[in-house]
Amino acid sequence: MSFNLRNRSLLDLKDFAPRDIRYLLDLATELKRAKSAGNEHPRLKGKNIALIFEKASTRTRCAFEVAVHDQGGHVTYIDSVGSQMGHKESLKDTARVLGRLYDGIEYRGFHQTVVEDLARFSHVPVWNGLTDEAHPTQVLADLLTMQEFGEKPLHELSFCYLGDARFNMGCSLLVGGTQMGMDVRIAAPAGLQPPAELVAEMRRLAQITGARITIETDPLKAVAGADFIYTDVWVSMGEPDEVWKQRIDQLLPYQVNTALMRASGKARTRFMHCLPAFHNLETEVGRQVHEKYGLKEIEVTDEVFESDASIVFSQAENRMHTIKAVLVATLA
Ligand code: CP
Ligand code: NVA
Repeated sequence: MSFNLRNRSLLDLKDFAPRDIRYLLDLATELKRAKSAGNEHPRLKGKNIALIFEKASTRTRCAFEVAVHDQGGHVTYIDSVGSQMGHKESLKDTARVLGRLYDGIEYRGFHQTVVEDLARFSHVPVWNGLTDEAHPTQVLADLLTMQEFGEKPLHELSFCYLGDARFNMGCSLLVGGTQMGMDVRIAAPAGLQPPAELVAEMRRLAQITGARITIETDPLKAVAGADFIYTDVWVSMGEPDEVWKQRIDQLLPYQVNTALMRASGKARTRFMHCLPAFHNLETEVGRQVHEKYGLKEIEVTDEVFESDASIVFSQAENRMHTIKAVLVATLA
């Protein structure tokens, strides 16, 4: 099976057809096996890749770096203060410079328009490492993880995302799940649901892929029968601290705790989170929220996070294998 994804950018999962995504998941599985067997063949020799991070990252940055190193290529890390981009040089000019030096560019930042402009002006493949609107490489890892743990084809599996569903994770999971023909449930209060146009677009796509889409305000109804229960931070990178109070008021009923996990009605429902997660008081932000609002755990309880149902570190590992697949498919 060979689909030509060479020179393609990954700005949003919508850029790829369902068969492209299946191809990437198969390639990721093959690369994962090769790495573990110690017989990975480097296909990015001589390739130089720029990694631009205007927001913080552990997983995405490390996954890109390890993937490129494993495949014999090189990376340059560019943070939000160390380059001229946006300060003394326009994005369009920076994109044209980087396009002359690099074979591909990863970008993490705020607006989707930035990653689109980078692709337009650099003329090399650009991969979205998270914007406010989308986190496509995360969802590729999530689909691989659901495939591995679900022990069924994706179109026979269901997941429920709970939380701030109007932001990157809610939107990209809706897109990825619909493309794979899954039973997609989103549980969020009225103001935090995915944008209406995206929902309408995905409902149209669902008629082709066979996906079922449920957007619910009732968390208990939404998780009934779900194979996977997924959440994310309630306040995303780039949002002001002031929104915490309102967000807690809105999302506390959607906290993933043992009662909610049981409400799936399935013994083997797994817990997923893109990470980082606030599940105890071992983070600065977690402690600040505790001092101000009294919560010891936020979007997920420590009990669920540390339980056997939790597959969050497998998701984190799969970031690397799926990003490697994207790089190999689009560059090698
Ligand atoms: N899930 C994710 O994107 O993690 P990082 O912010 O650490 O990259
Ligand atoms: N919604 C989160 C995802 C982090 C991986 C954020 O944007 O901060």
